Amino acid sequence: MKDSPFTYGTTVSINSFTNREKEAEKLRSNLLYGINTTIISPRRWGKSSLVEKVVFDIKKKEKNVKTIIIDLFSVSSEEEFLELYAREVIKASSTKWQEWMGTGKEFFKKLIPKFSMGFDEADFSLSFDVKELKKHSHEVLDLPEVIAKKKGIKFIICLDEFQNLSNFEGYAEFEKKMRASWQRQRNVTYCLYGSKRHMMSHIFNSPSKPFYRFGDIMLLPKIETAKWIKFICKSFETSGKQIPEAIAAKIPELMKNHSWYVQQLAHYTWNMTTKKASEVEVNAALKELIQANSPLYQKEVESISGTQLNLLKAVAKEETKFTSTAVMQNYNLGTPRNVSKNKDILINYDLIHEQNGAYEFLDPAFELWFKKQYFNQPYIK
Ligand SMILES: Nc1ncnc2c1ncn2[C@@H]1O[C@H](COP(=O)(O)OP(=O)(O)OP(=O)(O)O)[C@@H](O)[C@H]1O
Ligand SMILES: [Mg+2]
Repeated sequence: MKDSPFTYGTTVSINSFTNREKEAEKLRSNLLYGINTTIISPRRWGKSSLVEKVVFDIKKKEKNVKTIIIDLFSVSSEEEFLELYAREVIKASSTKWQEWMGTGKEFFKKLIPKFSMGFDEADFSLSFDVKELKKHSHEVLDLPEVIAKKKGIKFIICLDEFQNLSNFEGYAEFEKKMRASWQRQRNVTYCLYGSKRHMMSHIFNSPSKPFYRFGDIMLLPKIETAKWIKFICKSFETSGKQIPEAIAAKIPELMKNHSWYVQQLAHYTWNMTTKKASEVEVNAALKELIQANSPLYQKEVESISGTQLNLLKAVAKEETKFTSTAVMQNYNLGTPRNVSKNKDILINYDLIHEQNGAYEFLDPAFELWFKKQYFNQPYIK
């Protein structure tokens, strides 16, 4: 049996990557022309995949440009970040491992890097004396520019889950240092993105913060319906199955074009299909998808307060005037102050967002689950 042509749960920079030509071109030219770029979107719309794809293309074509992607998800302190950053910069600066140690030593003035080789010759880790590192962190932050100038190369540095840095002790100071160093660099371009949309917006959109106007802010849109339909039909075909266009169209429609869920629903549908998919398979796949995710949704509602849950119910019922007496009483929303505070909390949790003056759920499958759970509405109308 052939493997499923659909992927979710990991980035899809090569296989299963679709559309995004416009965004990819914009990001590519930004990064090549030295425009620092921040990418912001709700969760799982495809930020990491887009960056990987663009970086992959640049790597293939531009021999003089060294690219780095660092995921900061599990980094837990400023020192750990600096060591990782220095290591990746040194690693990317040369393909010859013999050069790494020399490079490392040559480019620091005060800091003394300690190298330790891994089992694999192509890998090493690097550490500094913690006190010294705190004092001279600018040497690490400046490192890519110094190497780039000396070697006549350019760097593109992509930092995924960037907002994670803001959890570190002493972040406010460190943020200023990063900005001061990075904005002066002429041969290094940064791409910063992360899954916590509100934290990212706060870092890059607040006039009083150091990273305000650091570069371009790309608000990544959803992938269009027509592109999804084409992608689904083609993927079925190349894997020896079929899906009529009108049936394929149901998948992005049900999942409101949400990248991760479209892939997941397409995968379940594909899995249930022997030869040719029909509405029956799509509907069964939807049930399976919601069932598979329901423990997560259950947790989600358990983590919010009673009045927040009530507000979510009002959103599910497409109410708009949350502070009108009727709505507040009907849904038991508390005081107008409660309503406004709870609304902010639900937005911050990325459970809802504002769209054309109305509020809606961000997660299309959670919405279907929620409406069935609390209002007994069937998944499919
Ligand atoms: N261009 C694309 N074409 C097809 N599927 C995509 C595309 N981009 C994203 N996806 C789907 O969406 C899923 C999530 O993508 P990705 O991890 O890149 O999103 P993200 O925005 O970085 O998520 P997070 O906010 O959680 O970091 C992928 O696993 C894949 O199923
Ligand atoms: Mg991501």
